[in-house]
Amino acid sequence: MEEKINQIKLNLKSDLDNVNKLQDIVDLKAKYIGKSGCITELMKNMKDYSQEERKSIGQLVNNLKNEVTDLIVNKEEVINNNLLNEKLEKESIDISLPATEIVVGSPNILERVIEDFESVFMSMGYDVVDGPELEEDRFNFELLGLPKGHPARDAQDTFYVKDDELLLRSHTSPVQARTMLSKEGKEPVRIICPGKAYRRDDDDATHSHQFTQIEGLIVDKNIKLSDLKGTVSIICKKLFGDDTVTRFRPSYYQFTEPSVEMDISCFNCKGKGCNICKNTGWITIGGAGVVHYNVLKGCGYDPKIWSGFAFGFGAERCAMLKYGINDIRTFYNTDLRETKPFDRREDN
Ligand code: DAH
Repeated sequence: MEEKINQIKLNLKSDLDNVNKLQDIVDLKAKYIGKSGCITELMKNMKDYSQEERKSIGQLVNNLKNEVTDLIVNKEEVINNNLLNEKLEKESIDISLPATEIVVGSPNILERVIEDFESVFMSMGYDVVDGPELEEDRFNFELLGLPKGHPARDAQDTFYVKDDELLLRSHTSPVQARTMLSKEGKEPVRIICPGKAYRRDDDDATHSHQFTQIEGLIVDKNIKLSDLKGTVSIICKKLFGDDTVTRFRPSYYQFTEPSVEMDISCFNCKGKGCNICKNTGWITIGGAGVVHYNVLKGCGYDPKIWSGFAFGFGAERCAMLKYGINDIRTFYNTDLRETKPFDRREDN
């Protein structure tokens, strides 16, 4: 046996001297320690020996296997290192080549404006809430003072989905009713709800059948129109610049009384008149008002105790003004080549 073992060691030595590629290592493993390798064969023959002999011979064969495996693995490492060194020597890096441009995306501008609104309102203690886009007629119209057959419904050309009960919300105001109705203890409310709304408008540069509103509602005790004015003017200064002046014009909505249209001084010409403000010095950014008595009542808030204000900003309008975009369809464009110019616009 010892002779056999020595012979195997000698063979391996000369085999190892002739190895120079990885395939040779694979072959060597098969030849010595593989399933039908010579060492495996020795182990299989173990049964021909007596119990006594098996012990010492087994030990010898095991040692041989370990020794052979180590030698082959070491050689494999040497070959791998050689291959790596060869590769490194051959390859060279031309550091004068221009780098590949890394394309980095940036948030959609409309999304940025919505986030700005959210963060300013959150800093004033408002919660950001969500509401369904597939809405019930009750929330979208009835609880807001627009019963079936009311002529003002026509102004919000609505997509009805099922009979005249289920629709795509035509504004984000239904979230007001939903929020108030959900407050069982009739506690104060302070929310904004940015979201999509839908109307059967023809799509052109300033209209889209889908658009984004930022709804707001506050209900508490002693809330007055002047609180609305104060809040809106702080928000607009934060969003459009410290020198922004806010103006309210009388308006009419069924769910607020009194109702107003919110204008800000043109941030481009500072009120002097330019093409952005159509030479008026003012830009309309949304509607608002003091929550109507009947809306509070319909949503379970006693109007003798509670009062509130509500507002709705047009998000696309604000974004178009802020970033000088003149086509609303820009926001919904998915062609990266066309949206690229807007990626790098700095916030101002
Ligand atoms: N929902 C109105 C619209 O779509 C905007 C609006 C006006 C919302 C007055 C309000 C509000 O909450 O008080 O034109």
